Amino acid sequence: MAGRGWIQLAYKSMFDCKLKDKTVFLRVDINSSVVEGRVVISSRIREHAKTIYALSEEGAKVVVLSHQGRPGEEEFIGLKRHADHIKKFIGRPVRFVKWDEDYVSIIKAMKDGEVVLMDNTRFQKEEQEDKTPEEHAKDDFIMKLAPLGQLFVQDALSVCHRPHATVVGFRPSMECVAGPVLKKELDALEKLEKIPKGKLVVLGGAKLSDSVSILRGMLDSGMCNKACIGGLFGELFLKAKGVDFGAKEKLFAEKKFDKMLPDAKRILEKYPSRIILPVDLAVAVQNGNGDSNGAAKFNAACPPKAKRKEIKVQELPCQFITMDIGTETTEIFKKEIRASEVVVFNGPMGVYEQPKFSIGTKKILEAIAFHRCFSIIGGGDTERALTSFGLVPQDFGHVSLAGKALLQYLSAEPLPGLKILEKKK
Ligand code: ADP
Ligand code: 3PG
Ligand code: MG
Repeated sequence: MAGRGWIQLAYKSMFDCKLKDKTVFLRVDINSSVVEGRVVISSRIREHAKTIYALSEEGAKVVVLSHQGRPGEEEFIGLKRHADHIKKFIGRPVRFVKWDEDYVSIIKAMKDGEVVLMDNTRFQKEEQEDKTPEEHAKDDFIMKLAPLGQLFVQDALSVCHRPHATVVGFRPSMECVAGPVLKKELDALEKLEKIPKGKLVVLGGAKLSDSVSILRGMLDSGMCNKACIGGLFGELFLKAKGVDFGAKEKLFAEKKFDKMLPDAKRILEKYPSRIILPVDLAVAVQNGNGDSNGAAKFNAACPPKAKRKEIKVQELPCQFITMDIGTETTEIFKKEIRASEVVVFNGPMGVYEQPKFSIGTKKILEAIAFHRCFSIIGGGDTERALTSFGLVPQDFGHVSLAGKALLQYLSAEPLPGLKILEKKK
């Protein structure tokens, strides 16, 4: 049963701990979209701000840790602007501290109720290495931080699939407990124990290597019996079937499609009738020419005047960049949704940041909401898309702030970030 192992996880909530006078390391996930240099206020920021406020209110010295983006990506930036957002939400000062400052002295000098936000944890090179808690405990920056704290609070399900330094590295040195945002997620997911296997998953988005292995796990375990695949992820599978995309191939090379294609091919061979792929796509057409921005800037930088045009998959290769699923595909996916009792959705069906290419994502999310099946919706971008369409969490069974971590949880795959919360005997 999905997640059963973790539902029985015996963990402690931060509210069951003495917080006053303690230096608390709080791991949150305020990883947000960045549009034209602006950090978009997300539910992640809003929700975790409440936890920061609660800890400060209880008299803890709160050291907040989060990543933002991935090295090499445009969204890989510092957390200064996040600190400003949090300050406004909690109505009290938030000291933003860079890793090249003397953070040990700064944390040592903190008073009860004070809040420090450390800069992007991924600026520390060891952060993203996949290692055990014991190995991460020996990382230089964890060795500096750990002696300063008495409690580690994990508040974000969305990072629990990563065996990263600030997710698992404090386990050997202090008590590790769950924050209220994580607890709310785990409480909601506990209800899933009663829901039978055989769900429909609708997957999209752009985190392809995660999605490939998770999809394989979901199909192998029987957790899902059919998968509708859109977004860049759907394009990977179309490519695995031999489709040449033309102009977008440059982006595929950057996204290292080559490495993932063999796995995608294997999944298609093993489950030919359980994977439903797009039959038409929407492309960005500018003045009848190809998207001169090139594949690398397919996203926010797509020319605002570009028009939406739908083409059949057979019409590929094409000089235009594909940006969304088409109308016929949307109808096929909707039919599958209406035939399902349980639907799990993660990852936008297209470049939803631009209204004309958000249509596929909007129609599919609306179909899930209106069908009134039991639904689980997850992902930072997915949640942002849903909100922008005027949909609300009440339209769905559960809206998670986690994307791939949620899928991994539903596949009953262990999550290292949850494992470290297990009470020590
Ligand atoms: P989530 O945060 O919901 O888990 P992801 O982070 O995996 O979702 O993916 C979101 C990103 O996927 C968005 O920035 C969106 O523009 C991008 N995306 C979706 N479809 C496509 C596509 N066909 N081509 C390029 N990018 C896409
Ligand atoms: C997310 O947005 O899904 C989480 O912040 C995890 O980010 P990552 O996939 O870069 O680890
Ligand atoms: Mg995302």
